[in-house]
Amino acid sequence: MSAEKMETTASVKTGLVYEENGETLRPEDLSEMLAAGTKEVHEKAENTQFVKDFLRGRIRKELFKLGAVALYYTYTAMEEEIEKNKDHPHFAPLYFPAELHRHEALARDLEYFYGPEWQSQIRCSEATQCYVDRIHQVGQEDPVLLVAHAYTRYMGDLSGGQVLKKVAQRALKLPSTGEGLEFYQFDAIHSAKEFKQLYRSRMNELELDMKTKKRLVDEAIKAFQFNMEVFQELEEIGKTIQEDVLDAGMPVHGAMGGDIS
Ligand code: HEM
Repeated sequence: MSAEKMETTASVKTGLVYEENGETLRPEDLSEMLAAGTKEVHEKAENTQFVKDFLRGRIRKELFKLGAVALYYTYTAMEEEIEKNKDHPHFAPLYFPAELHRHEALARDLEYFYGPEWQSQIRCSEATQCYVDRIHQVGQEDPVLLVAHAYTRYMGDLSGGQVLKKVAQRALKLPSTGEGLEFYQFDAIHSAKEFKQLYRSRMNELELDMKTKKRLVDEAIKAFQFNMEVFQELEEIGKTIQEDVLDAGMPVHGAMGGDIS
């Protein structure tokens, strides 16, 4: 197979070891365990009503703003714990603040939506608080598990940011200059695909025993569940908001090119 063909082949299975873009991967590699172990819960997350509506462009601005608030509290907690643990040998290779961190982008988005007094206008919802509490607990008591939280959010964001950004821009008629949508814009990452490969290989280089890798898979499943709880809560709030539903979405299938999350 030519090198070029190999590049475009997602994965070539050769027994238990297979190659992805020239890299040899094994089922016991953390990146593979996380991808396989969260497959089912990922499908569940994709099928929550809130996410399906979002992808169809059926999203009210008030709800979108509350979603950004939930993300703000979540990333603030996660990045606070990451900063505290940035030299921990089980996290240090995954420390990419310039490329990944979203706290500041979300603060700018909230300022755009809520104005200069945004900090006094927002509050942390119940479901978001549970997620935030778990992130702080993990950061303080069992920092290796932060890997699972970072994986679930950042790898997901890098998988779908551009499509979600377009859907929101169109549905909410936000400016094409990107205000209100900075969360979705990773300026320091030129190729999401290549960065995800780097991130996977860094995860695989962490010195972790099998027991810890399994605990990481369990924690990533939990992280997905926390996200689903937040979606569920937004869905419920949505039912109480009186506003015209905007229907400017994209077809859920076909237009996503396998790179949405
Ligand atoms: C990856 C779709 C929601 C977390 C992916 C990929 C697709 C996808 C196609 C693979 C990208 C690639 O291989 O480069 C979707 C769709 C969603 C959705 C259609 C909703 C409609 C979510 C949610 C989360 C999430 C809610 C978690 C909060 C992830 C993660 C990955 C990923 C962690 C990386 C998987 C890996 O390679 O290990 N998603 N996703 N996704 N998504 Fe999603």
